[in-house]
Amino acid sequence: MKKITLALFAATALLLLTGCDNKPKAEIITYKYTPAEVYKATCAHCHGDKGEGMAEKKSPALNKKTVQEFEMDLFDVKNGGLGQSTASEHDVMEHNMKKLAEKGYTYDTKAMAKYLFDTFNITK
Ligand code: HEC
Repeated sequence: MKKITLALFAATALLLLTGCDNKPKAEIITYKYTPAEVYKATCAHCHGDKGEGMAEKKSPALNKKTVQEFEMDLFDVKNGGLGQSTASEHDVMEHNMKKLAEKGYTYDTKAMAKYLFDTFNITK
């Protein structure tokens, strides 16, 4: 057991030492706000406090999708919004995302997907 732990530790250390050095620094992102803070400050006024959506803003409810579906949506929104072309129908959101990112309201798409699911899903 001890040997295995040690081997694992060594392998991880090696991976960290060798793997990370080649990555461009730009990939290391620290987020200023948690998904909950971002949602409250920037998403809620369109998607609702409970993710129920708003007909008048044509914003869909966020309370029925799975984590995986959100991850795909948000990946789309984020990459499209930051100027890379994705074949998505999230034009409104892409436009939003760019403005929000400029203000520091960006987020990890996986963390946000999990937050949306954990907080709003009504089908669980
Ligand atoms: C200005 C209003 C507005 C704001 C602010 C906004 N959204 Fe949206 N959102 C929309 C609209 C409209 C759509 C549907 C059309 C589209 O995707 O462009 C949408 C779509 C989505 C979708 C895809 C849902 C689906 O079922 O297709 C997700 C996920 C989402 N928004 C998450 C967010 C998150 C997370 C934030 C905050 C960072 C946010 N939105 C902020 C208006 C908004």
